Amino acid sequence: MSTHPLPREPRNVGAVPGPTVRPRRLRTSRAMRRLVAQTRVHPAQLVLPVFAREGATEPVPIRSMPGQVQHSRDSLRNAVTRAAEAGVGGVMLFGVPATRDATGSWATDPEGVLATAVRDVVAEVGDALVVQADLCLDEFTDHGHCGVLTPDGRVDNDATLERYADMAVVLADAGAHLLGLSGMMDGQVAATRAALDAAGHQDTALLAYAAKYASAFYGPFREAVESTLQGDRRTYQLDAANRREGLREAMLDVAEGADVVMVKPAGSYLDVLSDVAQASPVPVWAYQVSGEYSMVEAAAAHGWIDRRGVVTEQVTGIVRAGADAVLTYWATELAGWLRDA
Ligand code: PBG
Repeated sequence: MSTHPLPREPRNVGAVPGPTVRPRRLRTSRAMRRLVAQTRVHPAQLVLPVFAREGATEPVPIRSMPGQVQHSRDSLRNAVTRAAEAGVGGVMLFGVPATRDATGSWATDPEGVLATAVRDVVAEVGDALVVQADLCLDEFTDHGHCGVLTPDGRVDNDATLERYADMAVVLADAGAHLLGLSGMMDGQVAATRAALDAAGHQDTALLAYAAKYASAFYGPFREAVESTLQGDRRTYQLDAANRREGLREAMLDVAEGADVVMVKPAGSYLDVLSDVAQASPVPVWAYQVSGEYSMVEAAAAHGWIDRRGVVTEQVTGIVRAGADAVLTYWATELAGWLRDA
């Protein structure tokens, strides 16, 4: 029994006039809410990141990203076919090589894991999807950095540009429609554009990971690509504290000829995304990264959150903030939900 006294009877103050403006009217039914929705996510604006593992005969589960795998050549073909059937707009390929060295030699091997994956995927779904490849050295270097190193161990910007230029031509030769420049070297867009044009690849598009922040949210991805990185990427990726710098990086990449610019990660950088979306003359994409994925999967596995509700809400928020397209590990599944909705 409660020990509290009953509340006093309210004094009758007469009829309270109701509001004349009632925003709730537009929320009265599911049909009304659907009609007045100001943001719509469409499968065509989703891009699925996928991992191709050299020599794998079976898909290898990624422990830190439940539901994601390192693909064999067969399972990769299956995954991109399912993505195409779901109406997803594109796939972004990452390679997990069997061998690494200081300069990332296998990144520029036309028979390497990434170029091979590009050829396989283009042959399988190249008419239906925009086939994209990650252009960066970190998966291919034994030290795990996104570039080559100086003798004293710093990341050598301009020497790295030459490696990127070669890698761009190899991936374009393999048939990639779009290359994702994720290394955050200064001048990487101009350098790869010039190399592609000189090689006759004028139509290969460049996505600049323009505002890519040094983020703890990439943790699960490092397991996915078996990264050997010691230390961090803070001399080339942006500092989380800096909003203005994100916009500056995006504008520089536009000036260098980027066809698309990106903000990454997405969820913790919606302000930067909004700034870039307002200023950019080219499409702006956002990458919902591995840590964003794994946190939701972990909480959902405990029954602590509604997985589908959270995923839909997060991607809607990213699009509402200004993303024209979203890279998300849920692309295929979300596309299915959107079609059923
Ligand atoms: C670099 C690259 C990274 C990611 C995409 N491209 C890792 C990094 O910068 O450390 C992270 C993607 C993710 O976390 O989902 N090639």
